[in-house]
Amino acid sequence: MRYSIKRNLLNRSSRQTRLWLSTLAMFSLLWCQLASAVELDVPYVETPDDIATLMMDMAQITPEDYVIDLGTGDGRLVLAAVKRGATGLGVDLDPQRIEEANANARNAGVTDKVKFVIGDLFKTDISQATVLTLFLNSEVNMRLRPILFEQLKPGTRVVSHNFDMEDWQPDQQQELMVNDRNNYYIHDIFYWVIPAKVEGDWQWQMGKDQFQMSVSQQFQTIEAELRINQQTLIVKNATVTGTELKITAVNADGSQEYILNGQVTDNNITGTISSGFAGGDKPTNWHATRK
Ligand SMILES: C[S@@+](CC[C@H](N)C(=O)[O-])C[C@H]1O[C@@H](n2cnc3c(N)ncnc32)[C@H](O)[C@@H]1O
Repeated sequence: MRYSIKRNLLNRSSRQTRLWLSTLAMFSLLWCQLASAVELDVPYVETPDDIATLMMDMAQITPEDYVIDLGTGDGRLVLAAVKRGATGLGVDLDPQRIEEANANARNAGVTDKVKFVIGDLFKTDISQATVLTLFLNSEVNMRLRPILFEQLKPGTRVVSHNFDMEDWQPDQQQELMVNDRNNYYIHDIFYWVIPAKVEGDWQWQMGKDQFQMSVSQQFQTIEAELRINQQTLIVKNATVTGTELKITAVNADGSQEYILNGQVTDNNITGTISSGFAGGDKPTNWHATRK
């Protein structure tokens, strides 16, 4: 009797244990499924090695660069940059990809040069990048675009495999045919430099001359109006590349040419102005401030 009660008790407790174990198993299965079912904005597709090399060439990676790759996959773009002496960060939402990227960094002996982290590319702080690499899609590029302009410093290079940024025209574009299992595919590489914000009204004094400049801007395309002592100059060419501003203008009768070179930092431009034709006058320093 005592034996049978004990057995019953044991049975009940083992039934409870089994129930607990199966509930636990169910929950861990559900958890694993949830964890592995990360909702990706872009599926995993690798950048071929030749394309990675071309991306590094176009970005002119140097040991001074800090390269961030959004949606890093197995880390190959950051690791290609590290081969050129750079340091970098790769971010991917898929933990399996980050495991692979870390294994690749270990195999290459460069774990001190790179960091691979699980994360959402839309929530990643990219402000320290000097180069940003992307292989995403058009829709994700367009969602990222305002974030790039908000966070990246002027002069930061952005290289994208296959996907452009619509009306933000690339500063450079190249295509390359790549053989993949006996099929040939054309890949496009797009390259931009984040332009400084030069839009607005600027003014400066040089000797007794008062200069005024109004600039309108659409990404890296600018139009400038320039006046000296209220006299309008004819602007022949105006460009902004990263932080570098270049303007060539002539006076109304075409007798005097002005070549302005300047570095833009926030509300200041500093540089030199040469005037006269055929290298006539010695360059003079200028410092403009935004009104
Ligand atoms: C086309 S693959 C590019 C992989 C790698 N950069 C390359 O060029 O070989 C896109 C990668 O983005 C990752 N991904 C998709 N959505 C993401 C998100 N919201 N945040 C971070 N990574 C994401 C995917 O897991 C995938 O590894």
